Amino acid sequence: MSKFKGKTAIISGGAEGIGLSIAKALGEQGMNIVLTDINQQNLENAAKELEESGVPVLTARLDVADEEQWKHIAEKASERFGKLHMVVNNAGVGGDSVSVENQEKKGWQWTLDVNLMGVVYGAKTIVPFIKSHDEGGWIVNVASMAGMGGFLHGGAYNATKAAVVALSESWYEELSSQNINVSVLCPAFVKTRIYDSERNRPEQYKSEISSPESNNSFLKKTKKMIENGIEVSIVGKRVVEALNNGEFYIFTHPGYRSEIQDRFKAIDEAFKDSEKSIALKEVPNQ
Ligand SMILES: NC(=O)c1ccc[n+]([C@@H]2O[C@H](COP(=O)([O-])OP(=O)(O)OC[C@H]3O[C@@H](n4cnc5c(N)ncnc54)[C@H](O)[C@@H]3O)[C@@H](O)[C@H]2O)c1
Repeated sequence: MSKFKGKTAIISGGAEGIGLSIAKALGEQGMNIVLTDINQQNLENAAKELEESGVPVLTARLDVADEEQWKHIAEKASERFGKLHMVVNNAGVGGDSVSVENQEKKGWQWTLDVNLMGVVYGAKTIVPFIKSHDEGGWIVNVASMAGMGGFLHGGAYNATKAAVVALSESWYEELSSQNINVSVLCPAFVKTRIYDSERNRPEQYKSEISSPESNNSFLKKTKKMIENGIEVSIVGKRVVEALNNGEFYIFTHPGYRSEIQDRFKAIDEAFKDSEKSIALKEVPNQ
């Protein structure tokens, strides 16, 4: 029997894309799904699809950047399903893809609030519910290959995804001994609508000056890469497989291995340089 059967998962940004794919895959394992998203209409459509395949679903509109909303939904989820076992911190936005001098505060704030603080609030809210019983649980944070190494014009997106990888490593250290498994999903390109995150940007994060590079060729290139990405349905299945295996870093694009190795190699070389440093000669071995 699946170890997920009868347990409950809360998924953010679950109305479409990777979040919905994970919801479907966990639903197939017999989990109760608390499906949340900022987009109410898409949420209802997605919930209908899940319910039609026999998955018990509770839907709730949730802007992950609002900690109070998280608390409210956790209460509703526990009233409906009892114990909570898993949080999938998936909601994310692409942010602004601009050069250094065109970074804008509101765009940064939006990306930080959703991609980083959304993950913090999700874990902060749900972990006490997981700890309140003795069945253990899971935190699944959705980062990105962008969290493994910066890419051109990635800006706030890169920064938040690297932060989510670092946070996940820290939470893994903290929570493993308490029977809470932490994983971080790092996909490269997946066929979703992430390139059009602008549709989800609330009014308060819109700049007076619209991004001067909003239609640049870089964005067009990114859109094309995403459209040529892997099918989103694969990602949910891969997550279930990895959780069953107890994988911490969950990769979906093995072809990126050599790129990450190059980064590690460069870091290792930099350590070697520091060993030869004259400036550090007098410092005892640190
Ligand atoms: N698609 C890719 O190539 C790719 C690659 C690496 C990582 N990711 C990550 O996967 C996650 C899911 O993205 P996706 O590709 O499915 O994109 P998507 O745009 O298809 O889905 C994102 C979902 O999040 C919701 N959302 C946006 N802002 C929200 C908010 N403030 N609160 C709650 N929900 C909100 C949207 O309504 C949407 O349903 C993101 O964290 C993204 O960074 C995607």
